[in-house]
Amino acid sequence: MSSRSAYFKRRALSLLTGYGVDGEQRLARHINKLDVGKFPSENSNKAYTGQDARIIRESPGCPWPLVRLDEPEVLAFFYSKGGVGKTTICANVGVALAMSGYKVLMIDVDPQASLSLLFDIDVEQDILTIGDAIEGLLIGKNVDLGAAIQYPIQALDLGLIPADQRLVRTDMMMVQAQYREQLFTKVLRRYQDVLSQFDFILIDTPPSVSSLSFSAVASSDRILAVVELANMAVKASGNLFALVAELEEGSGKRLPITFIPNMLHGGKQYTRETLEAIRASVAGISDVSVTSTVIPEYIGLARQKYLGGQCTLMEQQPTSPVGIKMIELAQEIEAIAVIDQGEK
Ligand SMILES: Nc1ncnc2c1ncn2[C@@H]1O[C@H](COP(=O)(O)OP(=O)(O)OP(=O)(O)O)[C@@H](O)[C@H]1O
Ligand SMILES: [Mg+2]
Repeated sequence: MSSRSAYFKRRALSLLTGYGVDGEQRLARHINKLDVGKFPSENSNKAYTGQDARIIRESPGCPWPLVRLDEPEVLAFFYSKGGVGKTTICANVGVALAMSGYKVLMIDVDPQASLSLLFDIDVEQDILTIGDAIEGLLIGKNVDLGAAIQYPIQALDLGLIPADQRLVRTDMMMVQAQYREQLFTKVLRRYQDVLSQFDFILIDTPPSVSSLSFSAVASSDRILAVVELANMAVKASGNLFALVAELEEGSGKRLPITFIPNMLHGGKQYTRETLEAIRASVAGISDVSVTSTVIPEYIGLARQKYLGGQCTLMEQQPTSPVGIKMIELAQEIEAIAVIDQGEK
């Protein structure tokens, strides 16, 4: 059983339910008659979980009501450049969405397993990965995908299908397969009974374009392109547009892209200039947008593994300035999901 726990304070609950930083008193009045929260120990304040946030957001009068998604919204964190913050933002957005009341599944598609390691999964153990499901499809064998889903944080509806090195083998098998770009979509369909319980499916991809990552991206409703605000950023986005064009050619479906700018630094003028360049480069292109939330460069994110053990910033400091940014980003992603679902 995991020692990571998802309890958070009322201040975080206030942000997650739309009452905002100054709304704690109003939130307190709202939850007066609701059965939410518990006292983790005798002398501590009341603490809350994602399930409490869900109860509040489903009750009348909540300023940020929970939306019902008919199908899971599948989002691929992808960018054709390494080390830009895909895994970091995927993990924190996953935790933020689960803390705000959703059922979230993260799928690690990177053989390096950074996301799985961030959530304390022992990838040296015998684990099931999404690669087992894809290989099963190729050889006509079913796997128990439900058993592959791990829950790394107690009392949080945040599932994770971890990764390990064997995904390299899966990728090699896929290279020879017919319709390889459709395999991930087929897996999502085949295991619909297990997957339909989730509101969000977040896929963390490796930096390279492999058959596996290409297929994972092709299965998504939207690409969340995490872009580091550095010199090469805009150039690398050209590769992304080429990939989307290739996908469109194959499937006839044009994937929308939302850029998430990462590592804004007040003291580095070029980060602001790059942000402006990115906003300008997508202006007027349909189905391409940039989030209004920009994630700052913050040492606490780089060091999140060391904050009280292996842990995300959202678990440790949800109401810190960058924690608040992650919550705002999750709320933007929620709003985008509603638009995507309307178009299905
Ligand atoms: N906003 C930020 N501020 C400071 N450090 C950050 C920020 N975002 C990410 N990092 C750090 O940058 C490094 C790369 O981040 P991360 O692993 O999330 O990138 P990635 O795009 O998933 O990389 P890869 O392409 O290898 O999968 C990590 O050490 C991470 O902690
Ligand atoms: Mg990564």
